[in-house]
Amino acid sequence: MKGLILSGGYGTRLRPITYSQQKQLIPIANKPILFYAIEDVIEAGAKEIGIIIGPNKEQVIETVESEDWDAKIEFIYQDEPKGLAHTILVAEDFLDDEFVMYLGDNILRERIMEHAKKFKENNCDASIMLTEVENPQQFGVADINEDETIKRLIEKPKVPPSNLALVGIYFFKPVILEACENIKPSWRNELEITDAIQWLIDNGYEVGWTKVEGWWKDTGKPEDILEVNRLILADIQTKNEGTAENSRIIGRVIIEKGVEIKDSIVKGPSLIGRDCLIRNSYIGPYTSIGNECVIEDTEIEDSIVMEKSEIIGGGRIIESLIGKEVKIKRKADLPNGKKLVVGDNSEIVG
Ligand code: DAU
Repeated sequence: MKGLILSGGYGTRLRPITYSQQKQLIPIANKPILFYAIEDVIEAGAKEIGIIIGPNKEQVIETVESEDWDAKIEFIYQDEPKGLAHTILVAEDFLDDEFVMYLGDNILRERIMEHAKKFKENNCDASIMLTEVENPQQFGVADINEDETIKRLIEKPKVPPSNLALVGIYFFKPVILEACENIKPSWRNELEITDAIQWLIDNGYEVGWTKVEGWWKDTGKPEDILEVNRLILADIQTKNEGTAENSRIIGRVIIEKGVEIKDSIVKGPSLIGRDCLIRNSYIGPYTSIGNECVIEDTEIEDSIVMEKSEIIGGGRIIESLIGKEVKIKRKADLPNGKKLVVGDNSEIVG
């Protein structure tokens, strides 16, 4: 089985972060979201992976190539985000075998291995993954017959026929190419993968489905990113490779090499990346601090701070997504309990 992982698109709901960073590269527990997808696809046995790239393609290539992967990775350029089914057409030459298509902003706790096995065993032409959600209007939704076969798939329905959303991970045989060639753009002017799968059903091909039981997240908005960060940190194991002076480390905390913690409290689950300096501060639960950050005279909790940022006298910061190389410096006292989404290279000086 090959893997097709999508890392294109504009990620408009994550601005300002996505003005300078490709959405799938935003770190969760200090690892780009995209890497979780690549690891999952490799674990399921893919030896060849095609990654769809679009805007910020250089960033994606550079980040992926900074790691050694146990699979051959090739980058496939999509000139404009014209839809998920369009990416399949763009990748046509690569897709000569059955494959898993994985949206690079999706994270799935239970991983895909068991779902991939079922796709092989059932020998369907396609297999989708469904999960119960509270807000089906925001996803592709499946209408299921009494005998458990799929009746219909609808993209972002106003009146959903069920609460079963399509997870952004799909297993296909190459016949999906024919489906993608035969559908028309939707109301949002995209070639929808949901319509391509519906084309398979309408033309007598077999489409199976499996149910996702653990958590699954499409990291479309800042609050989704923070929620996945919490979910991933909830499972970490303690590791301390830094130094702490006159400080308390409470609960499960990962402290990477070169970290210096002085006169501070760090409460887990939380993660402090390489070469950070934490001074006179409180790092609260569910916080990921990227490499080479400086945090001084600040309380921060339930947040992501990306690499090389400096927060000095930041007061109390909660539920915030702070980009790379941001500088937050305060002299005066400003209201506490701030929730921030700050783009890369920004400066907030009080
Ligand atoms: O996350 C699950 C949902 O993903 C499904 O329930 C929907 O049926 C499916 O259509 C899709 O909906 P979204 O509206 O969330 O898809 P989005 O446009 O956000 O694109 C998903 C990912 O694919 C995102 O990481 C960007 C990338 N992408 C998207 C398009 C449209 C591309 O690389 N190229 C594209 O042309």
